Amino acid sequence: MSEQMTPQTPQWWKKPDVKKTAILWVICTAVIGYVGVEFHVRNMVRPASETMSGVISLMRIFTWAAAPVAGLVAAMCLTVLTSKRHYGDNPPAEADHQISNSPRATSLWIVVSAFLCLFALITGFIVIQKDAVALLDKNAIQINVTGQQWLWSIDYPNGARSEDLYLPVNKPVVFHVTSVDVKHSFWIVQMGVKIDANPGYVTETAVTPDKIGVFDLRCAELCGLLHAYMQTKVHIVSQADYDAWLSVHATMEKGA
Ligand code: CUA
Repeated sequence: MSEQMTPQTPQWWKKPDVKKTAILWVICTAVIGYVGVEFHVRNMVRPASETMSGVISLMRIFTWAAAPVAGLVAAMCLTVLTSKRHYGDNPPAEADHQISNSPRATSLWIVVSAFLCLFALITGFIVIQKDAVALLDKNAIQINVTGQQWLWSIDYPNGARSEDLYLPVNKPVVFHVTSVDVKHSFWIVQMGVKIDANPGYVTETAVTPDKIGVFDLRCAELCGLLHAYMQTKVHIVSQADYDAWLSVHATMEKGA
């Protein structure tokens, strides 16, 4: 009689494989999400701009969004590896049991993955548009960046030129990036700024550094033999230090 009275347990839940996979799914999701996020946090650079802080929190969110997908695959693998044993040269007798398609599961997965993609796209755009705000800022410092095999040249508004990049803290900067030979990629690691440097063409990106310190400028596009060494330092200093540096270098340029 209890069969009639209790709410019906779905047929698929009665299968031990399904139950085992479901439990492993939850465990794997938690482990993958936690380890993935912790790994990111420990191994990523300390952010030196709002853009980079945004990039890092996006990675945390995306890791947690991807964890159930990876967790399901891992759970299925574990179930299969631990449940089914068969020895011998021939397939087991029950090997030709039915393989069934579930239109409902397929549709559900299409909808879920579409939402996951949309979610990634929209949250990505929200972070990226912070650069665009700086691009439109009338007070932004305009810096010309030229890549060549295998160094960066930085040109400042007053005519100063350097190989290291000097910038004041908390001031939006627009980079006009180009190359004189092959394709390079201008990448300030701790600021989450990266854009291609193409010969004969100027690309633009922008950022507002929010920490004083020394950071890394690297080339992020394979550009020849010494690509790995095409890197320099970014010095983020106070406005006063920046002005002083700029005037000294402008003078040096004129005197040279
Ligand atoms: Cu320039 Cu790689």
